[in-house]
Amino acid sequence: MHSAVIPPLRLGVNIDHVATVRQARGTAYPDPVEAGLIAASGGADSLTIHLREDRRHIQDDDVVRLVARSPVPVNLEIAVTGEMIALACRARPAFACLVPERREEVTTEGGLDVVRHRTAVRDACRRLMAEGIVPALFIDADDDQLAATVEVGAPQVEIHTGRYADTGGEAQRVELTRIRHFARQALTAGLEVHAGHGLHLDNVAAIARIPELVELNIGHSIIARAILVGLPAAVAEMRRAMSEARVIAA
Ligand code: PXP
Repeated sequence: MHSAVIPPLRLGVNIDHVATVRQARGTAYPDPVEAGLIAASGGADSLTIHLREDRRHIQDDDVVRLVARSPVPVNLEIAVTGEMIALACRARPAFACLVPERREEVTTEGGLDVVRHRTAVRDACRRLMAEGIVPALFIDADDDQLAATVEVGAPQVEIHTGRYADTGGEAQRVELTRIRHFARQALTAGLEVHAGHGLHLDNVAAIARIPELVELNIGHSIIARAILVGLPAAVAEMRRAMSEARVIAA
């Protein structure tokens, strides 16, 4: 049997939860920047950090230090607020992913409502792009959100895979079909298409196999796995799972 390889998929490693462990005790260790450097030398194509408004894990200083030291592009996740956009413009990461944020949530629940916040999102994208920062919008696989994303001029989209990750059986199959359809539509609309949230070694393959995707952003499962096997091994395992999924029977 022949096999074909879909073009490679980049892995963005989210290192927020290294900072979660540090903040749990108010110590100076473990340093998420040091973890980022290890993840990059272990094969991460980019490093993602989410500076939340409540500063529960990543701190302002982490952003500055990571941008200064990272050998790979930094992707800063931020809410669409004046404070966060100004901070990103000062820190100048290569990429900024605009996400919704509610203080009481455990993690980002649901995608950004670009339809509802069209004007603010458009202004944020313009401000970021004026500083040479490439914005992405983190949205649910929804046609109206896609149309609004194109309209506000964002060049990249990240599909929220949380619902896919949190379900199983038929519900998961339905969600996967929705994500596949959306990825095709988004690429046709001229966007670069990424995905992330809730992905781990046992559920990543079906998402990694979607040919229109060029990047996955994965955090919690990699950092959790790193506790057991070390960060370089955890990054390598995920990269392997993603590459194996890209090889399809032809
Ligand atoms: N992508 C975005 C936009 C996110 O907000 C997060 C969580 O911070 C992730 C990806 C990574 O999600 P997880 O930690 O579940 O892998």
